[in-house]
Parts: sequence; C-alpha cells; structure tokens
Amino acid sequence: MFRIAPSLLSADFARLGEEVRDVIAAGADWIHFDVMDNHYVPNLTIGPLVCEAIRPHTSAPIDVHLMVKPVDRIIPDFAKAGANLITFHPEASEHVDRSLGLIRDAGCQAGLVFNPATPLHYLDHVLDKLDMVLLMSVNPGFGGQKFIPETLNKLRTVRARLDAYEAVSGRRILLEVDGGVKVDNIAEVARAGADTFVAGSAVFGAASAEDPNRYDSVIAAMRAELAGVGQ
Ligand code: DX5
Ligand code: ZN
Repeated sequence: MFRIAPSLLSADFARLGEEVRDVIAAGADWIHFDVMDNHYVPNLTIGPLVCEAIRPHTSAPIDVHLMVKPVDRIIPDFAKAGANLITFHPEASEHVDRSLGLIRDAGCQAGLVFNPATPLHYLDHVLDKLDMVLLMSVNPGFGGQKFIPETLNKLRTVRARLDAYEAVSGRRILLEVDGGVKVDNIAEVARAGADTFVAGSAVFGAASAEDPNRYDSVIAAMRAELAGVGQ
C-alpha cells in the first residue's frame, strides 16, 4: 500500500552498489535516483552510467527523478540503463506530452514532478499518460532540506483529483512526495494523500561509524508510523 524510496543523493557515493543492496535488504521498496544537471537545478549528480552500474545490485524498481533541462534526449539512455520509472519537471520540457510518450515508448512508467510553486494545471490533459505524480516538498537541488508544510494542502488537492480519475478510469496513479520526509512527519504526509515516500537524509543519515549499514531501524520506524494511517 505504501512505498518507501530512499534517495541515493545522501548515500555514500564511493560504495553505491553496497548502499543499494543494504537499503533494499533493510526493507526499502524502490531506489530513488536524483539526476541534477547544474542548469535546471544548481547541483550536479549522476547520470545513466551510474544507473547502469547499480542496476545489477538490485531487482527493486529504480525511480529516476530527472532535474534536467532539456529532458527528451536523455530519456532513452535511462531506459537502457535499467530505469523503471522516469519523472521530469514540466517546466523543463518544451513538449510535456511528447516527453511522457517517450518515457512510455521506452518501456518505463512516466511521471510529472511539481516544484512547491508549480501550478497543477500541467495535469489537465495528460492524466492518461501518467503513472505517477511527484510533489516536491522542498525546492529541488539538495538533500537535507526542511519539509514545506504547504505541500500538505497540495497533496490533498492532488489526492482528490487522482481518486476522481481512478473512479472513472479504474486506473490508479501513484502519488509520491520528495523532500524533508522523516519518521516524525511521514504519517502526516500519508494522511494528506501520499502513497510513495522519498527519504534521503532520513534514511542514509541513520548510518553511524560503529554501524554503517543500519538502515533497517529507520525504515521499520517509518513503516510503523505508516501502519497507523488508514487509506
Ligand atoms: C532534492 C531531491 C530529493 C532529495 C531528498 O532535490 O530530489 O530526492 O534527495 O532528500 P531529503 O530526504 O534529505 O530531503
Ligand atoms: Zn528526488
């Protein structure tokens, strides 16, 4: 019912394959893969080569979050590198419908990402081409930022819209949230309507020098919080 997707942005990049295996063994559902280009967002991270390198380390879905502009050229590269889902920011694409089509044609699930101040009208004509909506609860570019509370209102709005769409189409679109999600707010975020939770610093920050691979307790604590939320 709920998916937890640790963001590799806060992982140890020198041991990425091991981090992927450890976090999935600790109970995570997906790997969230943040792609930043120092153009659409003010940071630079990882691309298709790294996606391809981690692919053999897990059978869990790899959730590629593109924070790049332009979008289209890089989509087939991520599909070939083993991505399962690819999301992008509508402001970064000149042709949103085409970009969504490219993702699905490449065999991946497609999603749109909304920054905190991005209006939801981008959903208006593309619901049939969406497998997921991702709401940013921080401004994209960096891990470890504080959750923006207005996201809860936006989540409720999108939840209602996706429920109405499911009632007529029979098709469920996932609702993911990304940024500042922790053990102490994940239940509130779920009650507002999210079903999929990205957590970077909250998960990978749980490792300590004595016990560098202990992600199971933080993921279990998140699951315990989610268990108290009806859906
Ligand atoms: C931010 C990224 C997030 C980030 C989340 O631009 O898209 O996925 O890694 O990190 P936390 O959970 O630390 O806010
Ligand atoms: Zn992300």
